[in-house]
Amino acid sequence: MTEVKVEKLKEFNQEILERLIEIYMRGYEGMREYGGEGESYAKRYLRWCWGKAKDGFFVAKVGDEIAGFIVCDNDWYSKYEGRTVGAIHEFVVDKKFQGHGIGHKLMEKCLDYLSKYNNRIELWVGEKNEGAMRFYEGYGFRKVGQSGIWVRMVKDVRKDDKGSGRD
Ligand SMILES: CC(C)(COP(=O)(O)OP(=O)(O)OC[C@H]1O[C@@H](n2cnc3c(N)ncnc32)[C@H](O)[C@@H]1OP(=O)(O)O)[C@@H](O)C(=O)NCCC(=O)NCCS
Repeated sequence: MTEVKVEKLKEFNQEILERLIEIYMRGYEGMREYGGEGESYAKRYLRWCWGKAKDGFFVAKVGDEIAGFIVCDNDWYSKYEGRTVGAIHEFVVDKKFQGHGIGHKLMEKCLDYLSKYNNRIELWVGEKNEGAMRFYEGYGFRKVGQSGIWVRMVKDVRKDDKGSGRD
């Protein structure tokens, strides 16, 4: 495959939003219950992500095409932890690009970024999304709880491990 570049999203215009929605809708195909109620939900949610975590909104590009993205928030108040932690609000790769290592590249960027600010990272994953859970476990996330259909996972970051590298 053409070279994959991971970079911070610089602007959030209509064209980009439409591409992100397409990736999101396609990425969650077959897992509708974890991908919201459709495109209008996706639009609201992705706008919220951009407003909340602009600095940690990373996209993977194959040539000029956005192939996936990860939204990393270095200032998330976790009511479960009772403190501010890093959070991964969204992580998705377009179905047509899945399984080529793009997810790993995005995750490494995210962990490098969050480990500069946070010593704990939290995320939520659908209880039947076993592939994603295995992926996260490979990076040292562990399951610590569940709320409805969502499983909470956390990872502790040591200042010296910079977040990259799988277990
Ligand atoms: C999770 C996701 C972002 C990974 O992106 P990707 O580009 O396919 O990931 P990579 O190619 O870098 O790595 C794939 C790895 O994840 C595992 N994996 C992830 N999701 C998987 C799935 N649904 N089924 C099987 N394996 C999966 C693979 O086994 C592989 O592991 P390995 O590297 O040890 O062989 C992508 O599968 C996706 O967008 N899924 C739908 C959205 C989603 O579930 N997001 C997470 C929500 S919390």
